[in-house]
Amino acid sequence: VICAPASAASSPRYTRTARALHWLVAAGVLGALAFALSFDDLPLSPRKIHLINYHKWCGLTVLFAMVLRLAWRLRHAPPALPAALAGWERRAAHATHVLIYLLLFVTPLLGWWLSSAKGFPLKYLGIVPLPDLAGKDRSLAEAIEPFHLLAAWSLLGLAGLHVGAALKHQFVDRTDFLRRMV
Ligand code: HEM
Repeated sequence: VICAPASAASSPRYTRTARALHWLVAAGVLGALAFALSFDDLPLSPRKIHLINYHKWCGLTVLFAMVLRLAWRLRHAPPALPAALAGWERRAAHATHVLIYLLLFVTPLLGWWLSSAKGFPLKYLGIVPLPDLAGKDRSLAEAIEPFHLLAAWSLLGLAGLHVGAALKHQFVDRTDFLRRMV
């Protein structure tokens, strides 16, 4: 009883749709990263091309889920942050969330642009053809690639902060934040 989280019963939660989209996006980012690391050192081969395709499908799932998520968010205000948070924590949470939202669009869009510039047309899940964002252009691809990587690693750094803050509130401050999104 002494250790019961402070606001377990009272804290409002995100809607079921918002929670589903949040975890779909998280899984997509982890999948895109895992496949990126798996093909990183491989020489060009059919296996590498499969892995790159899985990487692209995970990343495109993130992008499509983010379009739905943004549309949902604009119509359904998220639950207010708990009163226990200090002013700086609210500002930090808000800034981190805005940046993560931005990067969740920018990273996959740069990947899509990169794929087009490398001359690989996209077919989502091997089924749905997607338009090219550029014609094949090697120097454009070389220019985009570092920005795709920078966006990806910035996203992962911020996601690390986001997860760290959520775990700290849950297990150190015992405010049961996770319940809002789980
Ligand atoms: C959240 C989404 C994404 C993340 C976190 C991400 C991350 C990464 C990372 C870390 C790499 C470097 C892999 C290496 O070391 O070689 C990479 C490469 C790449 N990504 Fe993404 N990516 C995402 C989405 C996408 C999407 C949506 C596409 C295309 C539709 C894409 C296309 C590419 C391509 C073409 C490469 C280079 C592959 C090559 O070596 O030829 N990415 N991505």
